[in-house]
Amino acid sequence: MPVVKYLQSNGQTFEVDVPIGSSVMQGAVDNMLEGIVAECGGACSCATCQVYVDEAWMAVVGEACDMEKDMLSASNTVRSNSRLSCQIEITPELDGLIVAIPAE
Ligand code: FES
Repeated sequence: MPVVKYLQSNGQTFEVDVPIGSSVMQGAVDNMLEGIVAECGGACSCATCQVYVDEAWMAVVGEACDMEKDMLSASNTVRSNSRLSCQIEITPELDGLIVAIPAE
């Protein structure tokens, strides 16, 4: 099972096994990681699941679709490496992925 490393704004780090076909958001929620609220449950309509993808992983993760970009544009903490974690589906290629959770 791929492992995703979540970096929290308080300096804590969590390595979580996330099933293939699940999402980076679901991995965080299932493990009760602070900072991923996921109000809409993964419907790409709340932007409370934003993460910053480690630069080394940007090409593997890929770009946000237009709908996701629209949601991110409403956030005041958006960066060039921001993604909505509910829109990052776990694949075998994402084993070792590193994401940072924005400060609340
Ligand atoms: Fe709402 Fe990701 S959980 S946009």
